[in-house]
Amino acid sequence: MNWVVLVGSVRKGSLNAALARALPELAPDGVKIDLLPSVADMPIYDGDIETAGFPGQVSAVGDRVKAADALVIVTPEYNYSVPGGLKNALDWLSRLKTQPLKTKPTLIMSASPSTMGGARAQYHLRQVLVAVDAHVMNVPEVMVAQAHTKITDGVLTDQGTRDFVGKQLVAFQGFVKKAQAAT
Ligand code: FNR
Repeated sequence: MNWVVLVGSVRKGSLNAALARALPELAPDGVKIDLLPSVADMPIYDGDIETAGFPGQVSAVGDRVKAADALVIVTPEYNYSVPGGLKNALDWLSRLKTQPLKTKPTLIMSASPSTMGGARAQYHLRQVLVAVDAHVMNVPEVMVAQAHTKITDGVLTDQGTRDFVGKQLVAFQGFVKKAQAAT
């Protein structure tokens, strides 16, 4: 099974990117996880650009999401919502004729230095994913609170968090299998 990961932060020292980088080694047997290119590679959505032709980066990410068995989104919370760059990427993907997000088994996780762990961004993201008919797993949820104490030098070091994320990935593997069996 092949899953792809979209990260909502574009900064080098991102806690969320560190969480995303930990996923391949925490994945259950039989699951390969690859990171998608940065959302910063996509221009701000513009209908005129779309009319002239989809940017290569948009088409490339769309093709990879379409081909993958599942999508994982790892994002920070900005002002109680998702970062604009992530929303922009989802807006672009929603415009592709191939509809890469439609019925795609999707997993959300977030990390934040706050005690909320990015929960509010997750619920806004769920709302956006309804519009594109992505099939998002409800539970278990992973919100890595006080993430700066659990990630050291870009590595997810906190064992409790690693275990919990691993359990979510196992649950998601079951969710994806069930979705595939139903089609
Ligand atoms: C934040 N941050 C933040 N954190 C949070 O838990 N809730 C919030 O509403 C916000 N709002 C917010 C807005 C803006 C514009 C910035 C830049 C930051 C803090 C944020 O969680 C923190 O900077 C994270 O470290 C960002 O994620 P990465 O880049 O480390 O993955």
